[in-house]
Amino acid sequence: MRDSEATCIEHLRERARRSVPRMFYDYVDAGSWSEATYRANARDLAALCFRQRVAVNIAGRHQGSTMAGRGVTMPVALAPVGFAGMVHGDGEILAARAAESFGVPFTLSTVSICSIEDVAAHTSVPFWFQLYIMKDRAFVESLVGRAKRAGCSALVLTLDLPMQGLRHKDLRNGLSAPPRLGLRSMIAMARRPRWCAAMLATRRRTFGNIVGHASGVEGTLSFADWVSKQFDPSVSWDDVRWLRGLWGGKLILKGIMDVEDARKAVEVGADVVVVSNHGGRQLDGAPSSISALPSIVEAVGDKLEIWLDGGITSGQDALKALALGARGTMIGRAFLYGLGAHGQAGVRRSLEIIQREMDLTMALCGMSRIDEIDRSMLTTRSLAALGVR
Ligand SMILES: Cc1cc2nc3c(=O)[nH]c(=O)nc-3n(C[C@H](O)[C@H](O)[C@H](O)COP(=O)(O)O)c2cc1C
Repeated sequence: MRDSEATCIEHLRERARRSVPRMFYDYVDAGSWSEATYRANARDLAALCFRQRVAVNIAGRHQGSTMAGRGVTMPVALAPVGFAGMVHGDGEILAARAAESFGVPFTLSTVSICSIEDVAAHTSVPFWFQLYIMKDRAFVESLVGRAKRAGCSALVLTLDLPMQGLRHKDLRNGLSAPPRLGLRSMIAMARRPRWCAAMLATRRRTFGNIVGHASGVEGTLSFADWVSKQFDPSVSWDDVRWLRGLWGGKLILKGIMDVEDARKAVEVGADVVVVSNHGGRQLDGAPSSISALPSIVEAVGDKLEIWLDGGITSGQDALKALALGARGTMIGRAFLYGLGAHGQAGVRRSLEIIQREMDLTMALCGMSRIDEIDRSMLTTRSLAALGVR
């Protein structure tokens, strides 16, 4: 299938499955533990139904909006994802360029393969930087300084990973960057010649923000080992306040699933919270992010901007989140499948698919603008099933 032939994210996922070596495909298409929360994200979105409306003038539709003060062609940002440069050679640069050309924000993960400086050198619109708070606070400070110097326009602080969730597939596959060269991994890679060609053409094969920057980190890095040694289980709201001062710009807190935590986010002066369970990759058994959204919107929706991620694989999913009060959304796997399938063109394709689905759905629901969207777009019966009054 060529880029132009993929008409839904599922086509891109299937293509990515056949293009990306198992270790990295499994890293993307998996949740933690039993994957119950990973499945719940998609299931609860699917259970919401739209109200079909007719004879409404929908001639002047568009999806333009703002996210954290930035104009966007649709309120769908690329979420921070680790290892994107292992899903496709130079993955973060390619995804950032696709986002830039489409007019949506790109977020670079702390555990990216391409570094902050690399992505800045290959893009012309400021991107966002995602940070994990690590034990080595001097390294955290240096990352924040590097993000500032690179012109990043917002800091996304991820709070739901003080320790890594149990991800069986990654442990079984021995996930690392670069991949360790055993017989099994060599055979797996040899069966993916286009992936190999892109990897051989780049020098970016390990964690660009970390290796050579954090003290004592060299060469091949086992992600699980590094996270368990470096991520700080003592992180508290005081640390968030400290970072707020250190950064001084727009602060987006990601991984908020509880009303009490959302209130704390307001207290520390966050600009945005992302209702997120890390795509079902952290606390398995947590509720779906869409089901956590309404109570958080009710509690703090008038005090800061609320976004949602988790399970969005279509424009319809994004609209459902907006209908329940999110001002913006983020996508992880939906763009990674495009990246794995066709590199930059695939990421762009995933964004085109989502926008086309948003546009068509808005039209058939009698909506012309993003700021018109509210709960009335969804049937009361499906809202009740999700516990929304
Ligand atoms: C492969 C993968 C890697 C991820 N890495 C990070 C990361 O480095 N930092 C982070 O804050 N979130 C990370 N996430 C979570 C995403 O930012 C986002 O919350 C999640 O992907 C949303 O769910 P979705 O994939 O169903 O869209 C990752 C998600 C995936 C799928």
